[in-house]
Amino acid sequence: MTQAQLAQRQDPLLAVRDVSVVFGGIVALNGVSFDMHKGQILGLIGPNGAGKTTLFNCLSRLYQPSAGDILMEGVSILKRPPHRIAEIGIGRTFQNVALFANLSVLDNVRVGTHARTSSDIISDSLRPPWVRRSEASVNKKVHEILGYLDLEDVAHATVSGLPFGTQKRVELARALAADPKILLLDEPAGGLNHEEVHVLGELIRRIRDERHVTVLLVEHHMGLVMSIADHVVALNFGRKLAEGTPGEVQADPDVIKAYLGSKDQ
Ligand SMILES: Nc1ncnc2c1ncn2[C@@H]1O[C@H](COP(=O)(O)OP(=O)(O)OP(=O)(O)O)[C@@H](O)[C@H]1O
Ligand SMILES: [Mg+2]
Repeated sequence: MTQAQLAQRQDPLLAVRDVSVVFGGIVALNGVSFDMHKGQILGLIGPNGAGKTTLFNCLSRLYQPSAGDILMEGVSILKRPPHRIAEIGIGRTFQNVALFANLSVLDNVRVGTHARTSSDIISDSLRPPWVRRSEASVNKKVHEILGYLDLEDVAHATVSGLPFGTQKRVELARALAADPKILLLDEPAGGLNHEEVHVLGELIRRIRDERHVTVLLVEHHMGLVMSIADHVVALNFGRKLAEGTPGEVQADPDVIKAYLGSKDQ
């Protein structure tokens, strides 16, 4: 039995249960269910308007589903505000890079660690002993991650002056600084060239293998999804169209039909 098959026999890390989202009259998601298992890279695909971003935003708590539930380790996340999902191990990046442009790489990544430490801005400024102690561990963590993502050389550079590809890596570093169990990636290949997409794919795989992070990858770049995902969920018009291994989903007649009628690919 493969590791992926073994994982599927365990309880899911994240369960999407019959989730629907309605905006005014538009049904953006219609009864979507699937499981994410520990250690998976799950690719979420679908033509324009399929509901991928809507689902992503439900997982990161920016949107409230109109019906259904989302369970992390068996517990509903739907009562949790967006700024408190990092505590339970859900980390995300943004499609259009959402860093503090005028801060250094180091400080941006440091912000990520605060999602998991007990200190906040007020206790930081007063600096009682327990904050000082945690500050040393934060610095250690930040430097470990900068090293891991090959960002040490630009640690003190201001984010706004860095190339887009590097900024995306800083965003990944910030998300990893909170030690997520699940990393939600929103079109990480957007705006990258062929070689950069290849490097990104290797990096996502390494993060899964070495840091034991489960990954949800929302992506238009079919080559990337098909080369690194273990499991793929395809959406169309807000419904789940197909689910399975990349090979199964790619060969699914409904998926082929949905993509033929779209400008994707
Ligand atoms: N905030 C919103 N208000 C109203 N309608 C929305 C909103 N967000 C999404 N929609 C609609 O919901 C449907 C699903 O959109 P969504 O952005 O989730 O698709 P997507 O799969 O991410 O598409 P794309 O590949 O183009 O990014 C679309 O019909 C879209 O117009
Ligand atoms: Mg989208």
